[in-house]
Amino acid sequence: MDILKVGVVGAGAMGSGIAQLAAESGSEVFMQDVAEEFIKKGLDSIDKFLTKGIERGKVTEEQKNEVLSRIKGTTRIEELGDADFIIEAVFEDLKVKQGVFEKIDGLVAPEVILCTNTSSISITEIAAATKRPDKVAGMHFFNPAQIMRLVEVIRGHYSSDETIETVIDLAKRMGKEPIEVKRDSPGFVVNRILMPHFIEAIRIVEEGIASIEDVDKAVRLGLNYPMGPFELMDFTGNDIGYHVMEYLHNELNKELKFSPPNLLKTLVRAGRLGKKTAGGWYNS
Ligand SMILES: NC(=O)c1ccc[n+]([C@@H]2O[C@H](COP(=O)([O-])OP(=O)(O)OC[C@H]3O[C@@H](n4cnc5c(N)ncnc54)[C@H](O)[C@@H]3O)[C@@H](O)[C@H]2O)c1
Repeated sequence: MDILKVGVVGAGAMGSGIAQLAAESGSEVFMQDVAEEFIKKGLDSIDKFLTKGIERGKVTEEQKNEVLSRIKGTTRIEELGDADFIIEAVFEDLKVKQGVFEKIDGLVAPEVILCTNTSSISITEIAAATKRPDKVAGMHFFNPAQIMRLVEVIRGHYSSDETIETVIDLAKRMGKEPIEVKRDSPGFVVNRILMPHFIEAIRIVEEGIASIEDVDKAVRLGLNYPMGPFELMDFTGNDIGYHVMEYLHNELNKELKFSPPNLLKTLVRAGRLGKKTAGGWYNS
């Protein structure tokens, strides 16, 4: 089946980036959210991203207009009814995602694949809200979706080989480098590696072995990573990181390597580290 029309549910940070990628790869895109203000915000951020591309000489004015003309924002999920492929990027909440999948399942043709951009929730549990679990998979983009090259393509327990192949092909068409996550396992690949890395960095500081600055410096210069763990935690969100650690710790047999360190727990709970706190670790 040709993927001519892509439906994106959720116009937030990830949904808008994914909608842009789908439009750039030649599809018509319907991007749905619950209120006009979220649609406007999503469309504005795509516009801004493409305008920056023009300033950097990477995109022409015509290309920008062409991409924007392929994206239609809507608050009516029914408008996604004739889509050939669906990508969901709503809040990270099982009940909300299941609600979306149940609704979409009743709207689109039976052969249409439904993907979720969840960072942590089980694909199999989300797919349980549909009558087509073989056509449900994870398509995990990284933030910002337009820039980060990796897409984790995750097999739910019932995802068919054909579904996974189609999702991998679409990710490639969007200019991404997909990897297949062969089992529906908490944290998939990247977060499973990343969280113990964050946790060990915080423990080194807790134990007085080195300062925040020096741990970041050590990782940047000694491992040649572009960012140290504290810089990266501030970038990806300390409160989100904390919740992901708690989730992995609970789901993966309470293994110590996923247990959130006290320092992070305390600072997030005290409101010193989190989305609304400026400064991050270096001001904590
Ligand atoms: N931000 C990241 O770094 C990142 C990276 C990879 C994956 N993800 C995942 O992507 C998903 C979205 O994250 P985000 O950062 O874009 O969140 P966000 O808060 O920026 O956007 C979520 C959007 O979903 C909309 N929404 C909520 N319920 C809806 C519904 N029932 N129908 C339609 N729209 C609805 C909200 O109004 C909001 O605009 C989450 O599952 C998250 O775990 C996030």
